[in-house]
Amino acid sequence: MWDRLARAGIPYTRPQGRPPKSPAALRRFLDPDGRLDGVRLKGARVLALAAGGGWDAAVFALLGADTYLADISAIQLRTARDLARKKGMSIRTARVDMSDLSRFGAESFDVVWQCHSLVFVRDVDKVFREVGRILKPGGTYVTSTMHPTTLRLYGRYTGAGWQPRTSYFDDQAMPYTDDGDVTWQFGRISVVAPTIEFGHRVETLVNGIASAGMVIDGLWETSPGDFDLKATPGSDEHLESLFPAFIQIRARKLFKPR
Ligand SMILES: C[S@@+](CC[C@H](N)C(=O)[O-])C[C@H]1O[C@@H](n2cnc3c(N)ncnc32)[C@H](O)[C@@H]1O
Repeated sequence: MWDRLARAGIPYTRPQGRPPKSPAALRRFLDPDGRLDGVRLKGARVLALAAGGGWDAAVFALLGADTYLADISAIQLRTARDLARKKGMSIRTARVDMSDLSRFGAESFDVVWQCHSLVFVRDVDKVFREVGRILKPGGTYVTSTMHPTTLRLYGRYTGAGWQPRTSYFDDQAMPYTDDGDVTWQFGRISVVAPTIEFGHRVETLVNGIASAGMVIDGLWETSPGDFDLKATPGSDEHLESLFPAFIQIRARKLFKPR
Protein backbone atom coordinates (compact mmCIF):
# COMPACT_ATOMS: atom_id res chain seq x y z
CA MET A 1 0.00 0.00 0.00
CA TRP A 2 2.86 2.40 0.77
CA ASP A 3 4.44 1.66 -2.59
CA ARG A 4 1.06 2.48 -4.13
CA LEU A 5 0.74 5.71 -2.14
CA ALA A 6 4.33 6.64 -3.05
CA ARG A 7 3.73 5.99 -6.75
CA ALA A 8 0.71 8.32 -6.57
CA GLY A 9 2.93 10.91 -4.85
CA ILE A 10 0.74 11.67 -1.83
CA PRO A 11 2.35 14.25 0.49
CA TYR A 12 3.19 11.72 3.25
CA THR A 13 5.52 9.98 0.80
CA ARG A 14 7.34 13.15 -0.25
CA PRO A 15 9.97 15.13 1.64
CA GLN A 16 8.54 18.23 3.29
CA GLY A 17 10.56 21.45 3.48
CA ARG A 18 14.30 21.83 2.97
CA PRO A 19 16.88 21.08 5.62
CA PRO A 20 18.75 24.19 6.79
CA LYS A 21 22.55 24.38 7.00
CA SER A 22 23.67 24.89 10.58
CA PRO A 23 23.71 21.87 12.93
CA ALA A 24 21.46 23.65 15.47
CA ALA A 25 18.87 24.53 12.83
CA LEU A 26 19.11 21.01 11.39
CA ARG A 27 18.29 19.53 14.80
CA ARG A 28 15.25 21.80 15.12
CA PHE A 29 14.14 20.81 11.58
CA LEU A 30 14.35 17.13 12.54
CA ASP A 31 13.05 17.44 16.07
CA PRO A 32 11.17 20.76 16.53
CA ASP A 33 9.93 19.84 20.01
CA GLY A 34 13.34 18.78 21.29
CA ARG A 35 12.46 15.18 22.13
CA LEU A 36 16.12 14.25 21.59
CA ASP A 37 17.50 17.16 23.61
CA GLY A 38 20.60 16.04 25.48
CA VAL A 39 21.11 13.03 23.21
CA ARG A 40 24.42 13.15 21.35
CA LEU A 41 23.94 12.36 17.66
CA LYS A 42 27.47 12.85 16.35
CA GLY A 43 28.95 9.36 16.13
CA ALA A 44 25.77 7.74 17.48
CA ARG A 45 24.21 4.68 15.84
CA VAL A 46 20.70 5.69 14.81
CA LEU A 47 17.89 3.61 13.34
CA ALA A 48 15.27 5.69 11.51
CA LEU A 49 12.46 3.14 11.69
CA ALA A 50 9.69 3.28 9.06
CA ALA A 51 11.14 6.66 8.11
CA GLY A 52 11.07 6.24 4.36
CA GLY A 53 9.99 8.99 2.00
CA GLY A 54 11.27 11.90 4.07
CA TRP A 55 14.30 13.79 5.30
CA ASP A 56 14.80 12.21 8.71
CA ALA A 57 17.48 9.64 7.83
CA ALA A 58 19.44 12.13 5.69
CA VAL A 59 19.32 14.71 8.48
CA PHE A 60 20.57 12.23 11.09
CA ALA A 61 23.46 11.50 8.74
CA LEU A 62 24.14 15.22 8.24
CA LEU A 63 24.27 15.56 12.04
CA GLY A 64 27.06 12.99 12.11
CA ALA A 65 25.08 9.89 13.08
CA ASP A 66 25.88 6.47 11.68
CA THR A 67 22.44 6.07 10.18
CA TYR A 68 20.35 3.08 9.21
CA LEU A 69 16.92 3.44 7.62
CA ALA A 70 14.40 0.58 7.80
CA ASP A 71 11.06 0.63 5.99
CA ILE A 72 8.74 -1.88 4.33
CA SER A 73 8.35 0.10 1.08
CA ALA A 74 11.07 -0.12 -1.56
CA ILE A 75 9.95 3.19 -3.08
CA GLN A 76 9.95 4.99 0.27
CA LEU A 77 13.49 3.68 0.89
CA ARG A 78 14.66 4.83 -2.53
CA THR A 79 13.26 8.34 -1.98
CA ALA A 80 15.14 8.67 1.32
CA ARG A 81 18.36 7.23 -0.16
CA ASP A 82 18.16 9.75 -3.03
CA LEU A 83 17.63 12.63 -0.61
CA ALA A 84 20.69 11.57 1.39
CA ARG A 85 22.77 11.23 -1.78
CA LYS A 86 21.78 14.74 -2.90
CA LYS A 87 23.15 16.01 0.40
CA GLY A 88 26.39 14.10 -0.15
CA MET A 89 25.55 11.59 2.61
CA SER A 90 25.15 7.87 2.51
CA ILE A 91 22.76 5.90 4.67
CA ARG A 92 22.32 2.17 4.93
CA THR A 93 18.82 0.91 4.21
CA ALA A 94 16.91 -2.27 4.96
CA ARG A 95 13.57 -3.33 3.58
CA VAL A 96 11.95 -4.92 6.60
CA ASP A 97 8.70 -5.17 8.50
CA MET A 98 9.12 -3.22 11.73
CA SER A 99 7.86 -6.28 13.68
CA ASP A 100 10.96 -8.24 12.68
CA LEU A 101 14.25 -6.41 13.14
CA SER A 102 16.26 -9.65 13.32
CA ARG A 103 18.81 -8.37 10.82
CA PHE A 104 19.99 -5.91 13.46
CA GLY A 105 22.11 -7.14 16.35
CA ALA A 106 21.22 -6.87 20.02
CA GLU A 107 22.25 -3.61 21.71
CA SER A 108 23.43 -2.09 18.44
CA PHE A 109 21.69 1.34 18.39
CA ASP A 110 21.90 4.44 20.57
CA VAL A 111 18.67 5.89 19.15
CA VAL A 112 15.58 4.43 17.47
CA TRP A 113 13.43 7.15 15.91
CA GLN A 114 10.00 6.17 14.62
CA CYS A 115 7.39 8.72 13.54
CA HIS A 116 3.79 7.96 12.62
CA SER A 117 3.84 4.31 11.68
CA LEU A 118 2.75 2.11 14.62
CA VAL A 119 -0.80 2.64 13.39
CA PHE A 120 -0.02 0.21 10.54
CA VAL A 121 0.86 -2.81 12.68
CA ARG A 122 -1.49 -5.11 14.55
CA ASP A 123 0.92 -6.24 17.26
CA VAL A 124 2.88 -3.30 18.67
CA ASP A 125 4.29 -5.47 21.46
CA LYS A 126 6.40 -7.27 18.83
CA VAL A 127 7.79 -3.94 17.59
CA PHE A 128 8.57 -2.78 21.13
CA ARG A 129 10.30 -6.10 21.97
CA GLU A 130 12.48 -5.67 18.88
CA VAL A 131 13.29 -2.06 19.72
CA GLY A 132 14.08 -3.06 23.33
CA ARG A 133 16.44 -5.73 22.01
CA ILE A 134 18.37 -3.60 19.50
CA LEU A 135 18.77 -0.52 21.72
CA LYS A 136 21.92 -0.20 23.80
CA PRO A 137 21.34 0.17 27.56
CA GLY A 138 20.54 3.84 28.16
CA GLY A 139 19.54 4.25 24.50
CA THR A 140 16.60 6.42 23.47
CA TYR A 141 13.41 5.43 21.65
CA VAL A 142 11.07 8.09 20.26
CA THR A 143 7.85 6.96 18.64
CA SER A 144 4.52 8.44 17.62
CA THR A 145 1.25 7.24 16.21
CA MET A 146 -2.36 8.24 15.65
CA HIS A 147 -4.18 9.05 18.86
CA PRO A 148 -6.47 6.09 19.61
CA THR A 149 -9.47 8.21 20.58
CA THR A 150 -9.31 10.57 17.63
CA LEU A 151 -8.62 7.82 15.07
CA ARG A 152 -12.01 6.31 16.00
CA LEU A 153 -13.75 9.63 15.32
CA TYR A 154 -12.50 10.87 11.90
CA GLY A 155 -15.43 11.28 9.51
CA ARG A 156 -17.90 10.23 12.20
CA TYR A 157 -19.76 13.46 12.97
CA THR A 158 -23.50 12.83 13.06
CA GLY A 159 -24.63 16.47 13.08
CA ALA A 160 -25.31 16.28 16.79
CA GLY A 161 -22.03 14.82 18.04
CA TRP A 162 -19.33 12.26 17.35
CA GLN A 163 -20.09 8.58 16.86
CA PRO A 164 -16.90 6.53 17.30
CA ARG A 165 -16.17 3.94 14.63
CA THR A 166 -15.57 1.29 17.31
CA SER A 167 -15.33 1.07 21.06
CA TYR A 168 -12.04 2.26 22.54
CA PHE A 169 -11.66 -1.30 23.89
CA ASP A 170 -11.93 -2.94 20.46
CA ASP A 171 -8.39 -3.81 19.31
CA GLN A 172 -9.32 -4.85 15.76
CA ALA A 173 -8.32 -2.83 12.69
CA MET A 174 -10.45 0.25 12.08
CA PRO A 175 -13.46 -0.90 10.06
CA TYR A 176 -14.12 0.85 6.75
CA THR A 177 -17.56 2.43 6.64
CA ASP A 178 -17.57 3.90 3.14
CA ASP A 179 -15.43 4.39 0.01
CA GLY A 180 -13.90 7.52 1.50
CA ASP A 181 -12.15 5.33 4.08
CA VAL A 182 -10.07 3.53 1.46
CA THR A 183 -9.33 6.52 -0.78
CA TRP A 184 -6.51 8.88 0.09
CA GLN A 185 -7.43 12.29 -1.27
CA PHE A 186 -5.03 15.24 -1.50
CA GLY A 187 -6.13 18.02 -3.81
CA ARG A 188 -6.18 16.46 -7.27
CA ILE A 189 -4.50 13.26 -6.15
CA SER A 190 -6.85 10.45 -5.31
CA VAL A 191 -5.60 6.94 -4.73
CA VAL A 192 -7.40 3.86 -3.51
CA ALA A 193 -5.10 2.39 -0.88
CA PRO A 194 -6.93 0.50 1.86
CA THR A 195 -4.20 0.57 4.48
CA ILE A 196 -5.06 -1.41 7.60
CA GLU A 197 -4.92 0.82 10.67
CA PHE A 198 -4.99 0.15 14.39
CA GLY A 199 -5.85 2.63 17.12
CA HIS A 200 -3.61 1.20 19.83
CA ARG A 201 -4.84 2.10 23.28
CA VAL A 202 -2.65 4.25 25.52
CA GLU A 203 -2.24 1.35 27.99
CA THR A 204 -1.14 -0.95 25.13
CA LEU A 205 1.55 1.53 24.10
CA VAL A 206 2.78 2.34 27.60
CA ASN A 207 2.72 -1.22 28.96
CA GLY A 208 4.22 -2.63 25.75
CA ILE A 209 7.20 -0.28 25.97
CA ALA A 210 7.62 -1.00 29.70
CA SER A 211 7.51 -4.79 29.12
CA ALA A 212 10.24 -4.43 26.50
CA GLY A 213 12.69 -3.17 29.15
CA MET A 214 12.32 0.56 28.57
CA VAL A 215 11.17 3.33 30.86
CA ILE A 216 9.00 6.14 29.53
CA ASP A 217 10.19 9.64 30.39
CA GLY A 218 7.84 11.68 28.21
CA LEU A 219 4.39 11.36 26.63
CA TRP A 220 2.77 14.09 24.52
CA GLU A 221 -0.64 14.43 22.85
CA THR A 222 -0.56 16.85 19.93
CA SER A 223 -2.47 18.15 16.94
CA PRO A 224 -0.99 19.84 13.87
CA GLY A 225 -1.79 23.43 12.92
CA ASP A 226 -3.72 26.06 14.83
CA PHE A 227 -6.57 25.09 17.08
CA ASP A 228 -9.85 26.25 15.57
CA LEU A 229 -12.92 25.41 17.59
CA LYS A 230 -14.92 27.51 15.15
CA ALA A 231 -13.95 25.22 12.24
CA THR A 232 -16.82 23.45 10.50
CA PRO A 233 -18.19 20.88 12.91
CA GLY A 234 -17.24 17.43 11.67
CA SER A 235 -14.13 18.62 9.81
CA ASP A 236 -10.73 17.14 10.67
CA GLU A 237 -9.63 20.64 11.87
CA HIS A 238 -12.56 20.75 14.28
CA LEU A 239 -11.93 17.24 15.56
CA GLU A 240 -8.20 17.89 16.00
CA SER A 241 -9.03 21.01 18.00
CA LEU A 242 -11.16 18.90 20.33
CA PHE A 243 -8.88 15.85 20.59
CA PRO A 244 -5.19 15.22 19.84
CA ALA A 245 -4.33 13.83 16.42
CA PHE A 246 -1.13 12.15 17.61
CA ILE A 247 0.43 10.58 20.65
CA GLN A 248 4.21 10.67 20.99
CA ILE A 249 6.29 8.78 23.53
CA ARG A 250 9.95 8.89 24.52
CA ALA A 251 11.56 6.00 26.40
CA ARG A 252 15.04 4.93 27.52
CA LYS A 253 16.29 1.38 27.63
CA LEU A 254 16.95 0.34 31.20
CA PHE A 255 20.52 -0.56 32.15
CA LYS A 256 19.30 -3.56 34.12
CA PRO A 257 16.08 -5.27 33.00
CA ARG A 258 13.49 -5.45 35.79
C1 LIG B 1 3.04 7.92 7.48
S1 LIG B 1 4.55 7.33 6.75
C2 LIG B 1 5.72 8.04 7.86
C3 LIG B 1 7.05 8.24 7.22
C4 LIG B 1 8.08 8.92 8.14
N1 LIG B 1 8.23 8.20 9.39
C5 LIG B 1 7.70 10.37 8.38
O1 LIG B 1 7.24 10.68 9.50
O2 LIG B 1 7.87 11.18 7.47
C6 LIG B 1 4.53 5.63 7.26
C7 LIG B 1 5.78 4.85 6.87
O3 LIG B 1 5.71 3.57 7.50
C8 LIG B 1 6.14 2.58 6.56
N2 LIG B 1 5.54 1.31 7.00
C9 LIG B 1 4.23 1.00 7.03
N3 LIG B 1 4.07 -0.24 7.54
C10 LIG B 1 5.31 -0.70 7.84
C11 LIG B 1 5.80 -1.91 8.42
N4 LIG B 1 4.99 -2.89 8.79
N5 LIG B 1 7.14 -2.04 8.62
C12 LIG B 1 8.00 -1.05 8.24
N6 LIG B 1 7.58 0.12 7.69
C13 LIG B 1 6.26 0.29 7.51
C14 LIG B 1 5.63 3.10 5.23
O4 LIG B 1 6.29 2.50 4.14
C15 LIG B 1 5.90 4.60 5.37
O5 LIG B 1 7.20 4.93 4.93
